[in-house]
Amino acid sequence: MKAVAIVGKRGGSGKTSVSHLAALGAAWKMTPAYFMHTDDRDPIEVSGRPYAYYDARNPETLATLMGAAVNKDGLCVIDGGGNRPEFDKWIADCVDLAIIPVSPDPEDVREALQHYERLVKAGAVKVKYLINKYPSSKVERGYVDTAFLCDIPAKDIIGYLPMVAAVRTLRASDTEKFKTPPSKVNKVARQTYDLINKELGA
Ligand SMILES: Nc1ncnc2c1ncn2[C@@H]1O[C@H](COP(=O)(O)OP(=O)(O)OP(=O)(O)O)[C@@H](O)[C@H]1O
Ligand SMILES: [Mg+2]
Repeated sequence: MKAVAIVGKRGGSGKTSVSHLAALGAAWKMTPAYFMHTDDRDPIEVSGRPYAYYDARNPETLATLMGAAVNKDGLCVIDGGGNRPEFDKWIADCVDLAIIPVSPDPEDVREALQHYERLVKAGAVKVKYLINKYPSSKVERGYVDTAFLCDIPAKDIIGYLPMVAAVRTLRASDTEKFKTPPSKVNKVARQTYDLINKELGA
């Protein structure tokens, strides 16, 4: 079992979306995936998803679930919301990789850089950025690359995820049995998992 934590203080950068995408992408590659919900919000209801979803808001529950999974195959994805310095320490000690999703926005970039430093100070060995909501137009990409993303060292960026509106359905409770998402979502899910898997193997 490998464990990846998707972290960041900034609300809306895409932690929860990226976590679902990673778990879904793993599932499509026949890799068992375990989603750990740890932020303060109520967990969602899931039905028939191809990955497990756990309410792990209690740190002891999280530790127990991780302990139970340690010898299993697969990927544990921790959706780590909020701004909790004690959680930084736990991440540094307990996960193989920490990913900070960053939207192309100056405030997002600033907070992501700060969080990176905090995680490294806490002892994390592998921390990477994943650019989320990357524009599709070349002109816009050129703009966000030079205006905002240039402050992030290129060697620390594991990849770029596009805007895919239907990603929001993954964050919502399943009102009926989970159906295979649109191909755009599956594609970005596989992409997310591949980027993480590559980094875990590196
Ligand atoms: N790649 C994407 N394409 C389109 N929309 C996205 C993408 N990633 C995230 N979003 C949208 O951005 C919003 C915030 O995403 P999300 O809830 O995943 O962020 P978060 O970092 O978990 O936020 P919070 O800190 O509040 O928990 C949501 O409306 C989500 O649907
Ligand atoms: Mg969230």
